[in-house]
Amino acid sequence: MSQTQRPRRLRSDGVRSLVRETELSASDLIAPVFVDATTETRQSIPSMPGHERVPVAEAVARVEEIRETGVEAVILFGVPESKDREGSRAWAEDGVVQRAIREITAATDAYVITDVCLCEYTEHGHCGLLEDGARADPTQTVDNDATLPLLSKIAVSHAEAGADMVAPSGMIDGMVGAIREGLDGAGYEHLPVLSYAAKYESSFYGPFRDAADGAPAFGDRRHYQMDPANAREAGREVALDVEQGADVLMVKPALPYLDILSKVRREFDRPVAAYNVSGEYAMLHAAAEKGWLDLEAVAYESLLSIKRAGADLILTYFAEDVADRL
Ligand code: PBG
Repeated sequence: MSQTQRPRRLRSDGVRSLVRETELSASDLIAPVFVDATTETRQSIPSMPGHERVPVAEAVARVEEIRETGVEAVILFGVPESKDREGSRAWAEDGVVQRAIREITAATDAYVITDVCLCEYTEHGHCGLLEDGARADPTQTVDNDATLPLLSKIAVSHAEAGADMVAPSGMIDGMVGAIREGLDGAGYEHLPVLSYAAKYESSFYGPFRDAADGAPAFGDRRHYQMDPANAREAGREVALDVEQGADVLMVKPALPYLDILSKVRREFDRPVAAYNVSGEYAMLHAAAEKGWLDLEAVAYESLLSIKRAGADLILTYFAEDVADRL
């Protein structure tokens, strides 16, 4: 039977790869690394199989494992030895992340990105200084403008330790501008900022909050992270970060927010990153453990889909496993 259009003609084995629109490569991937000042040995993270919190002494070894798979970049998260009201260990020269940066950059050729936030460092677990009375009044949480200088201090301390790029994740209005100003003032004009530009108040962060010990002690993050119901607002959020000098724009989480990713790709001429978060990783592992999904296949398909939707770079706990097979 004659048919003009037969899309199947281009699906035979010889031609499939010639017409493939999207290709995933190890250089697209960024692997998260947790450095923990409270332990002397590697601690596995139960809800994130295959991931560990490592002491500073193991940071280089951990990054070398990642580099061997072909992944070139890491993003560091820290668990400090102690927490306080302000989160002062976040900008300490001998803080856990600052020490890890120094060791990793001295011993490896990995590209080192750092997460800039206060939630792992404050005793209340919020991403900034609290407003007076925030504990008693759940309608109040983080004092936006008082938090800005602290974020700037953290970013500069990471730069001084040798970070290659800083990534503010707190969804504090003005954070990119404050950090840009701080970096420029300290002589780090060349250091790029990867902004968690459209970060949603998502329930998919659960396993990460266990891993990094960063769950809020009361309330939630709905007053600073975005409402999952909003897509147009993402355009406004991202535009503000572009105005303030963000070099790379991130959407987070990834899979439940592919519409946002594709919108940011279309509307902004900047590299776009997606964070395939802890819950996205944990749910595939849980289903695979039950024998319900093929882990290798769904991990690859997830990352390919995130790339197809518009991501140039992908932060993912699958980085090593997928890179190894590319
Ligand atoms: C810190 C931060 C979080 C994640 C990355 N940076 C946690 C949060 O906002 O609660 C989540 C990453 C993940 O779930 O994999 N603000």
